Amino acid sequence: MINKGIILSGGMGTRMSPLTKAVNKQLLPIYDKPLIFYPLSILMLANIKDILIIVNKGQLDQYRKILPLDNNLGIKISYVEQKSPNGLPEAFLLGKKFIGNSNVALILGDNFFYGQSLSKTLRSCTKLKNGAKILLHRVNKPERYGVAKLKKNKIISLKEKPKKFVSDLAVTGLYFFDNKVINYTKTLKPSKRGELEIVDLLKIYLKKKQLNAEYLGRGGAWLDTGSIEDFYKTSSFVSAIENRQGFKIACLEEISLNKKWIGKKEIANSIKFYGNCDYSKYLSKLI
Ligand code: TTP
Repeated sequence: MINKGIILSGGMGTRMSPLTKAVNKQLLPIYDKPLIFYPLSILMLANIKDILIIVNKGQLDQYRKILPLDNNLGIKISYVEQKSPNGLPEAFLLGKKFIGNSNVALILGDNFFYGQSLSKTLRSCTKLKNGAKILLHRVNKPERYGVAKLKKNKIISLKEKPKKFVSDLAVTGLYFFDNKVINYTKTLKPSKRGELEIVDLLKIYLKKKQLNAEYLGRGGAWLDTGSIEDFYKTSSFVSAIENRQGFKIACLEEISLNKKWIGKKEIANSIKFYGNCDYSKYLSKLI
């Protein structure tokens, strides 16, 4: 059972400059809340309560300011700083102490997931005991992503941004690993662009026939918010759903309340924390 999760929430956000010159991408808004709320909500929906957030050096205070106290969410949040964006697998070196002897989930801070049976899929992924599991989703433009080729439902190869079609199943930014991930990461060498690459890590599991796939079906949405256009589209998506249904996507306190990790007292604390705003009004309605 995986009960620890890491959110990789650093990065330079070069594609979104000048917005990201002074503010980290994950602190920018997706419609009515900071981007970081969305990956955090995904780990919570997966029943993961022990969470490490990796942030850029010098940005810790901003995260502490924008996120409610973890007590009021019924979870435990720790932080660690990444000196520079040396690649996604660095999460397992920076998070070595946090992970300890456990298995671990990793989510990229700029990935957005939404869909009907998502919670069920997530909970099935956290059952992982050995090996690694990745979440795949069909995309229209596979040449933009890392993709997985499958044969009889088994992953047989992984290809980063393929120029020629190999598969339209993109590898999303949510991964589940056994504890060996720490040692495997230690064997990785930086790529030509000077970063440790997640695909190299996945290939180690693939070679050992220990890389498994789970799918976000066609009723699910996966959006990565790497560019300004993506940010805008994801915001519109959230706005459309929330205004139509009256439910919020990624309301952290609502998830905790439904899971009975918190009660009325914590919600009241959060309302005080957020102040007089729509988010607080939504929280009031919950209790
Ligand atoms: P990227 O999209 O690779 O990088 P970025 O967000 O800095 O954007 P850009 O390419 O425009 O410069 O990163 C994906 C996510 O992972 C993003 O949320 C930032 C995070 N990240 C880290 O926290 N540390 C790292 O070393 C890297 C490479 C990414």
